[in-house]
Amino acid sequence: MKNLKVNIAGVELKNPVMTASGTFGSGREYGEYMDLNQLGAVVVKGVAITPWKGNPPPRIAETYGGMLNSVGLQNPGVEVFIEQDIPFLRQYDTKIVVNIAGKTIEEYCQVAERLADADVDLLELNISCPNVKEGGVAFGTDPRMVEKVTREVKKHSKQPLIVKLSPNVTDITEMAKAAEVGGADGLSLINTLLGMSIDIHKRRPVLAMGVGGFSGPAIKPVAVRMVYQVKQAVSLPIIGMGGIATGEDAIEFIMAGATAIAVGTAHFHNPRASLEVLEGIQEYMEKYKVQELKKIRGIIK
Ligand code: SIN
Repeated sequence: MKNLKVNIAGVELKNPVMTASGTFGSGREYGEYMDLNQLGAVVVKGVAITPWKGNPPPRIAETYGGMLNSVGLQNPGVEVFIEQDIPFLRQYDTKIVVNIAGKTIEEYCQVAERLADADVDLLELNISCPNVKEGGVAFGTDPRMVEKVTREVKKHSKQPLIVKLSPNVTDITEMAKAAEVGGADGLSLINTLLGMSIDIHKRRPVLAMGVGGFSGPAIKPVAVRMVYQVKQAVSLPIIGMGGIATGEDAIEFIMAGATAIAVGTAHFHNPRASLEVLEGIQEYMEKYKVQELKKIRGIIK
């Protein structure tokens, strides 16, 4: 039996497979297609201090090799999350990671503080959503801001704090280093790339907001490259994501330096995608006689 356990900032996951925030709701939608007990962790959609309506439709569009979204972090707010989603997820033997959203540093801190005594395992600070006017990527593209928001939220959080980075920057290692200096316990990368599609018949953008976040298999080489660069620049554990749909994809991220990986867009055409990724990792380990994942983590130098 191969050892699939991984440790992120002191939290042990039974395996490295997580769900990417925003692609899995709170897990409820997927419970009938798969056994949530098998996942290393469920990362829930961004949670804010108050309910957010999100952006007007259309806010999802298919593209070659992926999709665009501009959901705008629609969510019912942290109180509903605590009342309904935590008890649901706690029925399963999996870790709970809460992606936290805010329009201001204070709002991020309020969510972290509200969750301090909640039964969740990790927080993921969302300073990378490209679909909101305040907060999100507005905080994630300036290293001074990355450091500041990380430091402030850290003061209010009891659980380890993972900072989710945006690829929409010139040098992602600058943001990774800033998060590390600010006190982050780990990093997750990448969020979506800013993209756009135009309906040439209607002569207008496909998404109501014009631009949105591009995800899916087409972005995988960008994500692998960024995980690789960040691994060389900081010593924090990395959760790698961006276009992962198979076990082989996940192994690429692990060899680039990721401790855990998250499956996102693949869920929309295959609700069992994360479990198939897990099976694929196990098959790879069997085939190449890899006893534990740390033997291959970051082997690309
Ligand atoms: C969204 O809700 O707009 C996507 C979430 C994200 O990109 O973090």
